[in-house]
Amino acid sequence: MTRSLAILGSTGSIGRSALDVVAHLAPRFRVTALAARTSGSVLAEQVRRFRPQIVAFGSEDPTVAQACAEVGAALIAGEEGIGAVAVHPDTDLMLNGLVGAVGLAPTLAALEAGKTVALANKESLVIGGHLVMAAAGGPDRLIPVDSEHASLHCVLRQREKRDIRGLWLTASGGALRDYRGDLARVTPEQALAHPTWAMGRKITVDSATMMNKGLEIIEAHFLFGLPIESIDVILHAQSMVHCLVELGDGSVVAHLAWPDMRGPIQYALTYPELCPTALPRLLPGGLDTLTFKPVSVERYPCLALARRAAATGGTALAVMNAANEIAVESFLAGALAFTGIPRVIDRVLTAHTAMPAPTLEAIVAADRWARREAAAAAETVTTGEDSEWKL
Ligand SMILES: NC(=O)c1ccc[n+]([C@@H]2O[C@H](COP(=O)([O-])OP(=O)(O)OC[C@H]3O[C@@H](n4cnc5c(N)ncnc54)[C@H](OP(=O)(O)O)[C@@H]3O)[C@@H](O)[C@H]2O)c1
Repeated sequence: MTRSLAILGSTGSIGRSALDVVAHLAPRFRVTALAARTSGSVLAEQVRRFRPQIVAFGSEDPTVAQACAEVGAALIAGEEGIGAVAVHPDTDLMLNGLVGAVGLAPTLAALEAGKTVALANKESLVIGGHLVMAAAGGPDRLIPVDSEHASLHCVLRQREKRDIRGLWLTASGGALRDYRGDLARVTPEQALAHPTWAMGRKITVDSATMMNKGLEIIEAHFLFGLPIESIDVILHAQSMVHCLVELGDGSVVAHLAWPDMRGPIQYALTYPELCPTALPRLLPGGLDTLTFKPVSVERYPCLALARRAAATGGTALAVMNAANEIAVESFLAGALAFTGIPRVIDRVLTAHTAMPAPTLEAIVAADRWARREAAAAAETVTTGEDSEWKL
């Protein structure tokens, strides 16, 4: 059976890998809709190759317009295009590969329109987990793409919740895992040089600060309905083991897969079926050395900040996420030290009074407030009394 697929963020790291999977599994998927924001020439190429019915792009762009005209696709320019792609009537499966809080509204809209969502945009669950899980109504219409969560989804679907003692998310440690210099002097180039994964810029910096694992703890909490305290992180440099599930009798189930996002993306797109991938086989010979080490909470303060926001709950999650987005942008722009990232988040979280169980509108308002606060905090942290901040 051919499934009709919409991809939000098709020009990004996840979006491009998803289209590789679609090509590998042809003719299993028909691409009905694509959305991106700034990468016009990449999008135009995708439009010619996959011939969607509708395309959304962040601005008017003659290259994209020409490609759409050639294949007869409708083009919507501007932010409202994302919403139209998310609920396109001829689509039954939507892959959300957007980065950041902007992903929440289309995730909710697609679920409310009865679509199945393959979710890479972890921020949707971090800031609006209660809304997303209610809209999904169960584990079969919201399939995670994050490699750890796709692994957990695969393992946990055969288990009763009462048999689970804890979950362990594996962390590569990011680009600065072996860095021994002054973290305050780390450049964007250094933080972006990830040893294993080729990903978008924001998630690559999140990996270096370990905020990525903080977001993933919250993501797993909402997806699998387990307490935050039962979800932990362990350093595993080879990125072959994606999760460890500790069972009630103390035994541990590990899920291993090649460190290539095309694996979990394919899992999410073909769920509940497991199809052969184009990736090398792990066995025999693919598993040489596997190492596991505890994570230093002093070196990665963003982990504690994510846990703090999760313990507060409600709008604190949107605030923590937005402050992180702004701090990472400032760092990438060369306007904030690497070690300023947790400081900015800490400042904004401390200034916030959280509202429990927020609506989408309340989340959006908290997000906007936090962005303003974080931008102001980023300036002081760089130039003012906080310049001595150390991780
Ligand atoms: N990359 C990975 O391996 C990986 C692994 C696990 C989870 N994730 C999660 O997947 C999500 C995407 O990550 P990524 O690494 O693929 O990011 P990325 O490479 O930066 O791609 C983001 C995509 O979203 C599009 N986009 C951003 N804002 C938009 C907007 N307002 N309207 C329309 N399109 C917009 C971008 O379009 P333009 O490029 O055209 O501007 C791009 O196509 C993140 O939540 C990340 O945490 C990623």
